[in-house]
Amino acid sequence: MSEAWHEGRVIENRRWTESLWSLRVEGVALAFEAGQFVRIGLDVAGERVARPFSFVNPPQDPVLEFYGVTVPEGPLSPALAALRPGERLYVARNPAGFLVLSEVPEAESLWLISTGTGIAPFLSMLRTEAPWKRFRSVVLVHAVRYARERVYREMVSRIEALHPQLKYLTFVSREPAPDALAGRVPAAITDGRLERAAALALEPAAAHVMLCGNPDMLRDVQAALAARGLRKHRRRTPGHVSVESFW
Ligand SMILES: Cc1cc2nc3c(=O)[nH]c(=O)nc-3n(C[C@H](O)[C@H](O)[C@H](O)COP(=O)(O)OP(=O)(O)OC[C@H]3O[C@@H](n4cnc5c(N)ncnc54)[C@H](O)[C@@H]3O)c2cc1C
Ligand SMILES: NC(=O)c1ccc[n+]([C@@H]2O[C@H](COP(=O)([O-])OP(=O)(O)OC[C@H]3O[C@@H](n4cnc5c(N)ncnc54)[C@H](OP(=O)(O)O)[C@@H]3O)[C@@H](O)[C@H]2O)c1
Repeated sequence: MSEAWHEGRVIENRRWTESLWSLRVEGVALAFEAGQFVRIGLDVAGERVARPFSFVNPPQDPVLEFYGVTVPEGPLSPALAALRPGERLYVARNPAGFLVLSEVPEAESLWLISTGTGIAPFLSMLRTEAPWKRFRSVVLVHAVRYARERVYREMVSRIEALHPQLKYLTFVSREPAPDALAGRVPAAITDGRLERAAALALEPAAAHVMLCGNPDMLRDVQAALAARGLRKHRRRTPGHVSVESFW
């Protein structure tokens, strides 16, 4: 068992809200591509429990970072949320996943659309050079229930300052928020609000879309995109939409 796992040490557990947290972990050297995930785990009641988590940190950063939500009835996430600095976290040795820019075909614009914790892989990607070398425009969309769940805003502001071709848009669905779009992403694609907010056309000739987070969002956004002619990207049948479901 020990061969399959690195033992990392938590150096920070930042609490964004009562149910949202991020862990910074040192002591684990892993090669991965921005956008990938790795299983992280703890021994809960004598058993190793592990789940996939996307890296928030870019590959060049030796401190690993994971962003999570506490699912109260879940076996692992409440234990991760309770970790304190100095405590141990097991990290698998084999990062994986295809939500990576090396799998994305040529396009003018890159749309990164997330719900909840699904922003994590995009924060890793946006801190590498690849998006800025490859795309004329990059749109980061983060859709959350409540305004306070728009985490990592300072980090995104720093990226925007370095890369003016980044447009950052948020959706807040369950309360009014003056500086966010209201409702859900699929409706805003269909009625044109998303394109107007981004000041950019979302069309097959120019765009590649990456989706991450809630599986219902993935389904509904793909349907809204299909109505505009954007179809799922596969290695054998190139398209315009790459997806990663978190559950
Ligand atoms: C490829 C991949 C990458 C992932 N990356 C992340 C990540 O970066 N951050 C993260 O928090 N989770 C991520 N997840 C989900 C994560 O693996 C766990 O499922 C989650 O932490 C809950 O674990 P649990 O053992 O407490 O409950 P589980 O038994 O794993 O899940 C119970 C239920 O909780 C809900 N749920 C699970 N994950 C989430 C979530 N992220 N947001 C809202 N509801 C959820 C679903 O309804 C699920 O059926 C990822 C999953 C996959 C497949
Ligand atoms: N977020 C919290 O405050 C909180 C607190 C305690 C526990 N949790 C745990 O976390 C889970 C949910 O976490 P979350 O809030 O990050 O995720 P979420 O339920 O996926 O919500 C994030 C965003 O995705 C939107 N969304 C949901 N379904 C969609 C669809 N079909 N198409 C487009 N957008 C869609 C939501 O809109 P709507 O608002 O319209 O659904 C919301 O804006 C809960 O089940 C619970 O276990 C969360």
